[in-house]
Amino acid sequence: GKGGYDHYMLKEIYEQPTALRQTIRGRIDTLNDDVILDSFPPGSFDEVTSVQFVACGTSYHAAVYAAGLLNESGVPAQAYLANEYGVSEPPIPENALVVGVSQSGETADTLEALRYADAVGARTLVVTNVVGSTAARECTDAMYIRAGPEIGVAATKTFTSQVASLALLGERLIRDVTGTPSRFSAELLDSLSRLPSDVQQTLDDSTADELAELFDGSDAYFFIGRGLGYPVALEGALKFKEISYEHAEGFAAGELKHGPLALVTPDTPVFAVFTGQHTEKMLNNVKEVQSRGAPVIAVVGDESEEVHRVADEVLTFPEAPAYASGIMANVQLQLVAYHAARRLGRPIDKPRNLAKSVTVE
Ligand code: F6R
Repeated sequence: GKGGYDHYMLKEIYEQPTALRQTIRGRIDTLNDDVILDSFPPGSFDEVTSVQFVACGTSYHAAVYAAGLLNESGVPAQAYLANEYGVSEPPIPENALVVGVSQSGETADTLEALRYADAVGARTLVVTNVVGSTAARECTDAMYIRAGPEIGVAATKTFTSQVASLALLGERLIRDVTGTPSRFSAELLDSLSRLPSDVQQTLDDSTADELAELFDGSDAYFFIGRGLGYPVALEGALKFKEISYEHAEGFAAGELKHGPLALVTPDTPVFAVFTGQHTEKMLNNVKEVQSRGAPVIAVVGDESEEVHRVADEVLTFPEAPAYASGIMANVQLQLVAYHAARRLGRPIDKPRNLAKSVTVE
């Protein structure tokens, strides 16, 4: 059942601390700054030289997030929309690892991309929530995110657990491919182990409900971010549009001036995702939209004084390194989408035209 919540989506949003605990359980050795993945002991990816991610929708956003982390640490990585990968069939470099990201493990587009990779001889791995799913059976390897069943059509806790799982897998890859832990390694593992309680605090302190009320009836809702904040902006917009049916768009903050700025008015609130990276550039983008009259809601760590001063409104989370900050910013945006949709009386757990598992191409 819904355990006292009005919707599965809200229940699943609030389950994130628990889901995260399950995701990371036994996988972080904080004493030795190490990651322990039973299926992938050290050396599992020694021959890998690059990574291609294939995924759709929310899972694609998790893949963009993971590719960003790997690239920062010297492992060449690229995220592809599985439906585009499947039709363009790009060359796969020798010794590339092709990683599917799929909550259900049944998404037809993602399966097609993985089958193509397999057919040309690439090693495939799926990061999924469902043990025994088609992707888990067909790929060379599988990593389970252990988020527990997700009923709401909108993916929430599984996004969070995917991003955390991909961080752990990323650490193993970075160590095997480059021969050393990433320079963010200790910080990343430490912040992941604190994440369940940090996400709990984010949920407890959230003012997303009042914010949704404040901006009810706007013309459109925009989401901007840079670096790891970019996939969070994309995901914030996807969640918002799919359950509220309002126009919502996510942009790379640096792209605003190349077109989207034409859409910005006093009736288009802009959610700006701050992860602690690229803060000055993000603040310039904030000023860019504010000068067109748009109210800016900064989604930001609670100690970022300058951002708090510049923003019209804030949604905050405990101060943390960028990787964990993006996850918490996303939790805030999930709540904004939920409360906006609830105010509009939408059928939140079963939005029109959408299915939980998309098994057609
Ligand atoms: C959005 C959503 C979809 C899925 C997408 C991929 O909330 O749920 O965008 O993320 O259909 O599904 P999986 O992860 O099962 O491959």
